[in-house]
Amino acid sequence: MNFQLTEEQLMIQQAARDFAQTELLPGVIERDEHNIFPTEQIKKMGELGFLGMMVDPKYGGAGLDSISYVLAMEEIAKVDASSAVVMSVQNSLVCAGLEKYATEEQKQKYLVPLASGQSIGAFCLSEPEAGSDATSQKTTAVDMGDYYLLNGTKNWITNGSTADYFIVIAQTDIEKKHKGINAFIVEKGWDGFVLGAKEQKMGMRGSDTHSLMFTDVKVPKENRIGDDGFGFTFAMSILNGGRIGIASQALGIAQGAYELSLKYAKERKAFGTEIINHQAIAFKLADMATNISAARMLVHKAASEKDLGQDISISGAMAKLFASQTAMDVTTEAVQIHGGNGYVREYHVERMMRDAKITQIYEGTSEIQKIVISRGIAKG
Ligand code: CAA
Repeated sequence: MNFQLTEEQLMIQQAARDFAQTELLPGVIERDEHNIFPTEQIKKMGELGFLGMMVDPKYGGAGLDSISYVLAMEEIAKVDASSAVVMSVQNSLVCAGLEKYATEEQKQKYLVPLASGQSIGAFCLSEPEAGSDATSQKTTAVDMGDYYLLNGTKNWITNGSTADYFIVIAQTDIEKKHKGINAFIVEKGWDGFVLGAKEQKMGMRGSDTHSLMFTDVKVPKENRIGDDGFGFTFAMSILNGGRIGIASQALGIAQGAYELSLKYAKERKAFGTEIINHQAIAFKLADMATNISAARMLVHKAASEKDLGQDISISGAMAKLFASQTAMDVTTEAVQIHGGNGYVREYHVERMMRDAKITQIYEGTSEIQKIVISRGIAKG
């Protein structure tokens, strides 16, 4: 693995850092407090190419590698994890899924506006009774000849109210179990497609998470992604890459909380000296820095394997498992280092602690990552 970043990668990292400081930091506390989606900020991210980072420029993307993507994700998540999840779903799940598996017509119609940031996408796999157990899809898509009739409910959908296009996973043939599942592109506003309640979440409160209801929605046959029965393999394959996105988001949250803690520990005095001079605090910072460094290596390893076209199911799951645990540990210690100040909004770390928790849950819980890793290593 090459630890030396290229000039282009450093430039992307700096651009994302500058954007996060100037555009995302102002208002991040208020957006969290009042559940406000960062509409203007996401629009600007699209204009800067952050919403289709790895997509070929011929489809409106920035044509960058996965290392550039995780570097940018880390910088955005360091300041505003809610904006980072919008970016992660758009890049890693929606754009990557369409670029890899959609037809040319589907790419022209859907990928081009998504990759250029003019449209927002959502990935709809989870259901009230099919979260971790993703093969148990209850949403059905009945083949009616030249269209499918879609019925069911999807839950916890990131970008639920803001997305224009939705990749929806549904069961078309229950007898065939996961081989009877398909993925479809569904447009906002189609008859029978209703937006459900907005979730009131513990963290990531700037991102909009909704349930979605489909009642007899007619999905044209040309909107199915891949061959009949490809939907589950599609979802799993895309989630492998998505986990690198969430791992880099978790890494960014941890790095942000660490940087704030280090600064605070150098300024805050107790018992006659800056608290960094107390070993109880210094050792916490040492653990934070070490774990963040290890998480970054796993994230970059998985991203570089993706760029080399290798199987990233294990490395992506390892990166997510470790980075999300690191985010949780580091943000919890960050609150501790800040003491009473850590428990109030203006110091940011309490938000980061709340935001960190979901990185151990979405795109596969930590337990799911262990299933993926253990099955992978057993296969050899
Ligand atoms: N990569 C590629 N293929 C995979 C795979 C992977 N990581 N995991 C499973 N598959 C394939 C298997 O090879 C198998 O295919 P074949 O029959 O052709 O060999 C098929 O999928 C079924 O696999 P399993 O028998 O292993 O299925 P399972 O039911 O035992 O469990 C699971 C699979 C790994 C637990 C899976 O259900 C899973 O990943 N669950 C978690 C779902 C998830 O991550 N949801 C996140 C929702 S999206 C989200 O959160 C986005 C957001 O808003 C932020």
